[in-house]
Amino acid sequence: MANWYDYPQYFDMLFREETPVEVAFFEEAFQRFAGRKVRRVFEPGCGSGRLVVAMAAKGYDATGLDLSDAMLNYMRRKLKRRKLQATCVKGDMTHLEFEKPFDAAFCTYNTFRHLLTEKDAVAHLRSMADSIATGGIYILGMHLVPEEDYEAVVERFKMSQAGTTLTTTISVPHTDEKKRLETLRVKLKAVKSSGEIVRIQSEFPLRLYTPTQLKRLFKKVSDQFELVASFDFAYDIDDPLPFDKELLEGLFVLRKLGAET
Ligand SMILES: C[S@@+](CC[C@H](N)C(=O)[O-])C[C@H]1O[C@@H](n2cnc3c(N)ncnc32)[C@H](O)[C@@H]1O
Repeated sequence: MANWYDYPQYFDMLFREETPVEVAFFEEAFQRFAGRKVRRVFEPGCGSGRLVVAMAAKGYDATGLDLSDAMLNYMRRKLKRRKLQATCVKGDMTHLEFEKPFDAAFCTYNTFRHLLTEKDAVAHLRSMADSIATGGIYILGMHLVPEEDYEAVVERFKMSQAGTTLTTTISVPHTDEKKRLETLRVKLKAVKSSGEIVRIQSEFPLRLYTPTQLKRLFKKVSDQFELVASFDFAYDIDDPLPFDKELLEGLFVLRKLGAET
């Protein structure tokens, strides 16, 4: 069994079209919700660095942190190729230690759900709160599961770039509702311009959240973060949505509480 995150080029390709949409939303959210000017930004679990690189290109002082050497090396190469500067840190997003606080942070598309226990999820949110200045915001995005029984769907994406055609199929072969874990299976097939074919299959667990469970988690850290708005994966800043049981593609803006610094 391969590890999807050892193939950053294919991960990056899959999310490529989302990047400008997300970056535009981040900048609008900074304007609308941050109680301070945003210069220093941070992404925990930054993966291939697609967002960190895009934010560096926009002139932000950007930092990305990840556990995967393959992902971090890919990000460093991309920065070098584009003659951009950003800070790349190898580390665990449950224990963050930075000398200077950030003005804003973002963590989208389920990265947060890699934290498999309540303890790690709370540790991450507390660590983020300690790393963000008062008035700064944390944009967090993830799929939520319905409160009632549901059937997991299979998603298939096909895209081409620089002569490579990539087909990615994502399914959920196993769900343990008691443990609040699902297994995500990612199958990819890349056909390169040379004709070479790369096939991998990767499986990993993600923690499950219903809207109620996520609300409960946010409440646990409500002494440090207030939830200021929620959206969905349309990334439409002019269309905030109620955080109710219908919101299953959740995009949340948390603001760091505290005395003005
Ligand atoms: C789905 S990828 C997302 C990458 C990026 N956020 C994006 O949207 O392109 C998840 C990343 O989180 C990283 N990761 C998982 N658990 C982590 C942890 N505890 N600390 C830091 N990084 C972690 C993985 O190595 C992987 O690169």
